[in-house]
Amino acid sequence: MIEYPSKVMKKYTLGSSKESVLEMIPEQSVKKIILGDKNITLVRVTSNFYAFQGYCPHRGAPLYQGSLNHMNEIICPLHQYRFDVRSGEVKAGACPDLETFPTQLTDKGLEISIP
Ligand code: FES
Repeated sequence: MIEYPSKVMKKYTLGSSKESVLEMIPEQSVKKIILGDKNITLVRVTSNFYAFQGYCPHRGAPLYQGSLNHMNEIICPLHQYRFDVRSGEVKAGACPDLETFPTQLTDKGLEISIP
């Protein structure tokens, strides 16, 4: 996992309230979002949201077309490498971990911080 100093992070907010976000993004869903110039994969597991890079560090397949398993892992659609959505750690496969981005569900919506 790559960590950035907070002062270089830009914060984006999706939705307008907690309820609007929970309604907009169903449980166990995998979405593509674009923030600034970055393609991001956003997943929801119960009421938790995780954001990480849009493309697989192995050969660049779109992770937002992947699927979630019961161990909170995203499965890449191309070679089925698996990554923990919480930490970005590669769990099956030989490639770097995912770049992850902090998220926080607030009364104003879902905040995602991007370097
Ligand atoms: S491109 Fe994702 S596992 Fe190969």
